[in-house]
Amino acid sequence: MSLDARERLIVALDVPSMTVAEALVARLDESVWFYKIGYQLAFAGGLPFAASLIAAGKQVFLDFKLHDIGSTVAKGVESIAQLGATFLTVHAYPQTMKAAVEGKRGSKLRLLAVTVLTSYDDADLAAAGYELNVKELAVARAEQARDIGVDGLVCSAKEVAPLRNIAGRGMVLVTPGIRPAGSARDDQKRIVTPAEAIAAGADYLVVGRPIVEARDPKAAADAIVSEIEQTTKP
Ligand code: C5P
Repeated sequence: MSLDARERLIVALDVPSMTVAEALVARLDESVWFYKIGYQLAFAGGLPFAASLIAAGKQVFLDFKLHDIGSTVAKGVESIAQLGATFLTVHAYPQTMKAAVEGKRGSKLRLLAVTVLTSYDDADLAAAGYELNVKELAVARAEQARDIGVDGLVCSAKEVAPLRNIAGRGMVLVTPGIRPAGSARDDQKRIVTPAEAIAAGADYLVVGRPIVEARDPKAAADAIVSEIEQTTKP
């Protein structure tokens, strides 16, 4: 897959209102081509906003982490696919993934599976009734995602290398938890720099606070894109 460095940066629009989102997007202008919208903005007018971003030529990642009975997931994905988004997340349960693959048929929407939420550790899984630990469950679900025909996985950059063996080149690996050298960690525990993530084999980087909360968000985005460019130079 050959992607422009700028296309590999996805900015997480983790902001409370459309007004803030619109101002940020205007400020980032041509520096950012790809935006992620999650619960916070989606439930504050973010869907029409997503449609307007797409109409303006941007790509959109809808981080909705869907999970429900199959027919509900399939119909929900069918509606979401009509928005023209590029990525949508679903939880990596076989029934959910199969329904989502069915629902997106015929559209350009690509599905990303969330294997195990990064806030979960082995004790959380045991408390939820699982016998597998985080590592075992993440591998099992990545294999299921691949076999069901899901297009990619969301994972920490630290997991890119082992997951690439399962995913092959056919699936995209999208990694949050990115922090440029010298920036605040915030609540992220396992961070890597943009260069490290790209070198490890990540296809797309999701970056929120290091850009959204920067004094100059456009300069922060440009710096990350040039770091991606430097790392991918032949
Ligand atoms: O501000 P920051 O760069 O930490 O934002 C990262 C984005 O990626 C947030 O929207 C967060 O919800 C999301 N994310 C994450 N870790 C995951 C999955 C998604 O940080 N495992």
